[in-house]
Formats: sequence, structure tokens, C-alpha cells
Amino acid sequence: MGRLWPLVFTVLFSSVFSIVLCKTNVQTTQTFIVRVQNDLKPPHHPNIKAWYRSTLTSLSSTSIAQTQDSHVQLLHVYNTVFHGFSARLSPQQAEELTHRPEILAVFPDRLLPIQTTRTPQFMGIRASTGAPNGILNDSDSGSNVIIGVLDTGIWPERLNFHDQGLGPVPSHWRGKCDGGEKFPKTLCNKKLIGARYFTGGYGATAQDEETELTNSARDTVGHGTHTASTAAGRHVGNASFFGFAHGVAIGVAPKARIAVYKVCGSKGCAGSDILGGIDSAVEDGVDVISVSLGGEPRPYFLDPIAIGSFGAIEKGILFSASAGNSGPDSTTVINVAPWITTVGASTIDRKFPADLVLDDGRVITGSSLFTGQSAWTKDKYVPLVYAGNVSVKHPDGASPSTHCLPNTLDANKVRGKIVVCDRGGGSRVEKSVVVKEAGGIGVVVANVDGLGEGLLADPYLSPGLEITESARRTVLKYISSSKNPRASLRFSGTTQVGVRPAPTIACFSSRGPNVISPHVLKPDLVAPGVNILAAWPDGIAPSELSADRRRTAFNIISGTSMSCPHVSGVAALLKGAHPNWSPAMIKSAMMTTAYTHDTDAKVLRDERDFKSSNAFGMGAGHVDPEKAVDPGLVYDITVDDYLHFLCASGYNSTEIKVITRKQVNCSETQQSNLWDLNYPAIAVSLGASAPSKSEVVVKRTVTHVCNGASTYTVKITNPKGAIVTVDHTKMVFTQKGQKQTYTVRILAQKAGLPLDGKMSEFGRLTWTDGKHQVTSPIVVNWS
Ligand SMILES: *[C@@H]1O[C@H](CO)[C@@H](O)[C@H](O)[C@H]1NC(C)=O
Ligand SMILES: *[C@@H]1O[C@H](CO)[C@@H](O)[C@H](O)[C@H]1NC(C)=O
Ligand SMILES: *[C@@H]1O[C@H](CO)[C@@H](O)[C@H](O)[C@H]1NC(C)=O
Ligand SMILES: *[C@@H]1O[C@H](CO)[C@@H](O)[C@H](O)[C@H]1NC(C)=O
Ligand SMILES: *[C@@H]1O[C@H](CO)[C@@H](O)[C@H](O)[C@H]1NC(C)=O
Repeated sequence: MGRLWPLVFTVLFSSVFSIVLCKTNVQTTQTFIVRVQNDLKPPHHPNIKAWYRSTLTSLSSTSIAQTQDSHVQLLHVYNTVFHGFSARLSPQQAEELTHRPEILAVFPDRLLPIQTTRTPQFMGIRASTGAPNGILNDSDSGSNVIIGVLDTGIWPERLNFHDQGLGPVPSHWRGKCDGGEKFPKTLCNKKLIGARYFTGGYGATAQDEETELTNSARDTVGHGTHTASTAAGRHVGNASFFGFAHGVAIGVAPKARIAVYKVCGSKGCAGSDILGGIDSAVEDGVDVISVSLGGEPRPYFLDPIAIGSFGAIEKGILFSASAGNSGPDSTTVINVAPWITTVGASTIDRKFPADLVLDDGRVITGSSLFTGQSAWTKDKYVPLVYAGNVSVKHPDGASPSTHCLPNTLDANKVRGKIVVCDRGGGSRVEKSVVVKEAGGIGVVVANVDGLGEGLLADPYLSPGLEITESARRTVLKYISSSKNPRASLRFSGTTQVGVRPAPTIACFSSRGPNVISPHVLKPDLVAPGVNILAAWPDGIAPSELSADRRRTAFNIISGTSMSCPHVSGVAALLKGAHPNWSPAMIKSAMMTTAYTHDTDAKVLRDERDFKSSNAFGMGAGHVDPEKAVDPGLVYDITVDDYLHFLCASGYNSTEIKVITRKQVNCSETQQSNLWDLNYPAIAVSLGASAPSKSEVVVKRTVTHVCNGASTYTVKITNPKGAIVTVDHTKMVFTQKGQKQTYTVRILAQKAGLPLDGKMSEFGRLTWTDGKHQVTSPIVVNWS
């Protein structure tokens, strides 16, 4: 029996999103995603689509008789990763559908944000050498691998997508170039092999902007062009953002083929379209799916990305998704299903420094991509003020804004000065416009409490830079304690490389634990996501603001949206080097070889406060492609393993059928513990007091993926307060493909509450044969 799921809006939506969604509430119809049991199709309907149409026609239309929209519109028919359709329906019609025997579930569509961090334009850069190395050679740079990029489309004319020197399109490609308006078939080539658009749900939910092409795979936002070129862009010389980060731009898998599925517009992406894009990508024969978007986690049977990704991994397609940009708070990680590869963001060793020089001689180094360096006369000192003290008072008595939002500054108090604005409340670059319009001559965007010590480089439209949370305290103290606070700005226009320590965990990167499946550690790993340079469309300002008249072929932006395609590219190389590896094997290889120490040989630091990060921030660690291509051992997971896991998670047979299209009787499946899913990480709960457990036994199976014999021994780092032992201290393998199972006992050291009140402690388990290090993080949650 079907059921109508309540419409839940999420805190991840920006204010723009809530406005859009409020509008949908007052409409009479909205998009619903409908899961159908296709095996119940009566024989007199020639095909599934005709059957769906007739079902829709049979619905009563009385409830919408007064509206323009009295015909029911079929938006997408899904037949690969999901069985069913999406359509514009009134709530009454949706309710009617739930009573039909063939309908398993009906749930409302929602818009999911693209992950460019909290506001749409965080800034970034990517380090690349372009030199062939082991993994590029072993995989022929991904030449036989197809990456399906689900995003805002692509700007096909960019040089990053040229096909010179590429061999024929891989023979397993079954898709097409159907790019729609302003996207003739001739724009596809041996690099960009497919282009389609799935925007019906978006068009129905969000209002189109004039400039937005919804009936086309052409990118009118920028995000999709950037992510596609990050994953698989060709080598392009003389790339830079107005001179910043000058050098060669190259994607991670430069010969991998790109198939584009436009499922998003400037305001986000509809779940119904995402599902349509995944459905087609799987049918078309892609090998990796890259999805830099997502909404707040939900039970998997209500989550189009969890459902679609299950269908993908079942077909051997690795599914890589962004972890979200809601850090550094805990339990913020999204895209958490165990079959997804969930990618957090880290920094690289590059910076774009700019200085705020206080009149007392102190120099505070921030970060900026301001392109008009010459606009600021060297050593010009002007008054420095804090936005909270120069903003207009709110008529209802609310305290003045500290964020330099449009129309909040008092021009009389700002003219000729540098204004310190708190970050938040909207676009950072826009603050430079607001200050300039009020007559100010410089802007300092300051990380407010909780935004930490990380710096994003932004293309300010007037002299501007960003400073850290601790620097903000220093500056505010200086302003309030000086009679005549003054400062100067210094823009060198330089790109600093070799910055230490690197990498660090980006402050905005979403953190574990996983709220849906606490025994599956998320994020899985981290990759570069801060200040990433990649391709950008024509006609779109780098800040996406209308006041910004600049145009550029490359942009520098930040977010887990940028880290996800790095891992998609690495996965494509691994697939190229090991065509027979399952998605779980590829993910395992990336996780067990990930590194957890930085260039100073210290545990990766967290930009929040520059203290050590942990597995909730970095997952297994930072992806290391050269090691991942030769991991020694992997943890594989079958589709049946996931079914057992879903049973153990308490999903019933209807819910499991919505996710997996499989009829499962959980009382017949082999009972397993949640922590026994063969994951390359271990997360358990321990508690010293009843009814919690003081000991957990975990089972894992490894597969030997090297030629020849090897002997592995185990090394353990205990989480504080627990003792970890393994039943084998040694595993001997004689040939490739051999599997061995071991058990791990995790014992609480003593009764009572955990030491120092921490809710989680972290350890590691490493198998090594001298050459390979196969490491799994261990997380103990005290309950
Ligand atoms: C590159 O790959 C080819 C074919 O896989 C192999 O024969 C060759 O040894 C590799 N070269 C290097 C330098 O690894
Ligand atoms: C490199 O790019 C810059 C800016 O796009 C351009 O002015 C310059 O002529 C280019 N140089 C070469 C050698 O192509
Ligand atoms: C803002 O104004 C208040 C009240 O005049 C003053 O106490 C405070 O020091 C000012 N703060 C800054 C940062 O200027
Ligand atoms: C499964 O749970 C849903 C609620 O999520 C409920 O509506 C449905 O009837 C249940 N199905 C079975 C077979 O228990
Ligand atoms: C599930 O399996 C159990 C045990 O074999 C059986 O008793 C039960 O009838 C089955 N349920 C369904 C819905 O098939």
C-alpha cells in the first residue's frame, strides 16, 4: 500500500530556497514521485508509459477544476534504478494514488541545493602537475571510462572538453547527445559523449529566470561546467582567474569521457529530475556517477539520491556524492547511504593572501581574489569601522545588522572608510558591493564565531578580503580600544604555494556521525574542495552577481561540490586500471589507502580551530590516488549484503522494495548486526552501563587483489577507553582473489562514563604486508 509522505523542508536551503518553496505551497499542484510495482501492469496496456498515463487520466480532477493546470502532467518515467514516474498532481490526486494496489509509495518532490558551500559562491583552486604517473598510466588516464555528471549542465565549447588525441567512444556507451536548445548534436565529441536534460521537476517547482535555459543541457549557472572539468577536464595551458592560480588546468581523469545530465538550475535541483538523470545515466552505460548536490538526510526510501544510487551500484557504477557544506557542526553529513562514496572537503597547499594593516603596525593576513589591485594606493590609511556600529537601526528596534546586507549601511558613517562585515546572511562578494554603494572604500569579511580559521578566496568587487575568526576578535578589539582606528589594505595579487600544513579539513565540510546509519562512518574520505580553479561558462559572472560584469573562462570556487568530482575522477582512474572491481572495491581502495597526516607529519588539522581532526571530519582520510591503485586488500560488499543491512536497520519489506526494487523477507535473511556490513571503516556503540554493551564483536572479510602470495599482520591503535583485539594476528594469502574473514573484539576498558565526557573516541586497524598498509578507522560511540 502506498502512503503520502509529509513535505519536509530542510535547514540546508538558503533563504532563496525557502522563498521558492513557499510559493509551491500555495500552488494547487506540485510534483510527486510515484513508486509503481510494474509487474502488476494489466496486459491490455501496450507498455508501462501507456499504463501510467491511463492511471493518471483516471484520477479525479475535481479538486483542480478551477485551475489552469487541469491536465495531469507526466514529467518523467523511470525504468532502470527506480520503477515509477513523477507527475504534477494535486495533493488529493496523490492521496488517491496511494489507494491503488500497484502503487508502493508517493512522495512529494523537493529542491535540493547544489553544494557550493553555505552560500552559492565560495572560492577555490586545484593543484595539478599533469605529469603522467602510475595511476594515469595504468588507467590510460581513464580513456575507457565514462563519468556521468549530474549537475547544472555544461559549457561544451570550453577547451577543457576538446577531444583531440582521444580514441573512439567506449563501446559500452548506449547514451545520446540530446542537448536541446542552443546545444546542437555537433557539440558532443569523443570527450563530451552525451548531453541530456531533466528539468521538468525544476521548471514546475522553481521560477525560471530569463537567463536560465531549462530545456537545454547548456550550463547557465557555472557549477556543472566547473565540476565536470574538475573530474575529467583536458589539459589547458595559460589558465588562471585574472592572473590568480596561473598555470595548467587539468581534470583528475583527463581522458575519461563525460556524459552530462542537467538536473539542476540556479535555485537547486528537483528530486524527480535527479532520479530521472540517474535512471538515464545507468541505462546509458556510465561507469561513475558524480553528484555534487543533496538535501538533508532522510530515511533511504524517501531519498531520491539514496534510491538512484542503489540502482547504480547494483549495475557496478560507482556513485560519488558531496558530504555537504554545513560544518563544522557534528551530524551534518548528507548523502550517507553505505553504497554512496561520500566526499568531504579539504584544503590544498595554495593561498591567495591579502593583508589588512592596522595603524599600529600589526598585519593581519587574510585571503582575496580582488582583481583591481591597483585601485588601492599603497600605504593609504583610512578609518576602520565595524558594520554593527555603522548600520541603520531597524524600525522595529531589532539590532542593526553586522552582515552588510543590502540597504543596511548608514552612508554617513561609512563614506571613505573600510568596513568590517560579519560573514553570513548572503553572498560574501555582495558585501563588497553593498559597502561600495554606501561610499565605503574597503571591506573586511570576518569569520564570525564558529566559522573558524579557514579562509576562502573571493573575487570582491571593491577592495576586500576575508579574515579568520581569531583575527576578527583582534580587529574588533583594536577598533573599540582605539581613539582613531585606521587601516590600510595590501593586495599583492599573488598565489602562494607550498603552504603548510596541508591538507586541512575545511571548516564548512559537513561532519559525522551519520544520523541515518550510525554504524556506517561518514564522510568516507576527503579531497580538495577549497579554492578550486576549473572551467566556467561564457556570460556568467564569477560571483554570479548581476552587478559583476567580469567574464572568465575559469573560476575559483569552494565546497564539497568541488571535492566530490576529484574523487569521481580518481574512481574513474581506478575503474580504468581495474575494470572488474565493484564500486565497493573501488571505494575500499580509496578509503584504506587514504592518508591521515599532513605535510608537517601531524594528524590532519581542522580549520575550525587548527586542532587535530578526527574520522567524523576526514572519514578514512585524504584520498591518495597512487596508493589506491594498488591497495593490497579490499573490503567488498555485495547487493545481498546491503539487503541484510537494510533489514538489520529496521526497514520493512515495502520500504526495501522502494529502495532496491527487490522483494525481501527480512525474517528469512540471515540476521546480521548493523556493524557487520563489510565496510572499510568500523563504527560501534559501547556503554559500560546496562542495557548498553560493554563488548562488540565485528566481522570483516578482505579480498587479496595483488598477484602472488602475501602475509599480512595487524597493527592496532586503541580508541581511548577501549581495547581492540583481532582473532587473527596474521593472514596468509597465496593467490589473487582469495578472501579471508576475521573478527574484531572491541571491549570497554572499564565501567562508568567515558573519560573526559567525550561521546566518541577514535582508533585504527591496519593490515600490512610490508608494502601495503590497509587501514580502517575505528569509531567508538559511548552510549
Ligand atoms: C604503463 O602501462 C603499460 C600498460 O599497462 C605498461 O606496460 C607499462 O609498463 C606502464 N609504464 C609505467 C612507466 O608504469
Ligand atoms: C594567457 O592568458 C591571458 C589572459 O587570458 C592572455 O592575456 C595572454 O595573452 C595569454 N597568453 C598566451 C601565451 O596565450
Ligand atoms: C560599537 O559601539 C559600541 C557602543 O558605542 C562600542 O562600545 C563598541 O566598542 C563599538 N565596537 C566596535 C567594534 O567598534
Ligand atoms: C512499512 O512501513 C510503512 C511506513 O513506513 C507502512 O506504511 C507499511 O505498511 C509497512 N509495510 C509493511 C509490509 O509492513
Ligand atoms: C517471511 O518468512 C517467514 C519465515 O520463513 C514466513 O513465516 C513469513 O510468512 C514470510 N512472510 C512473507 C510476507 O512472505
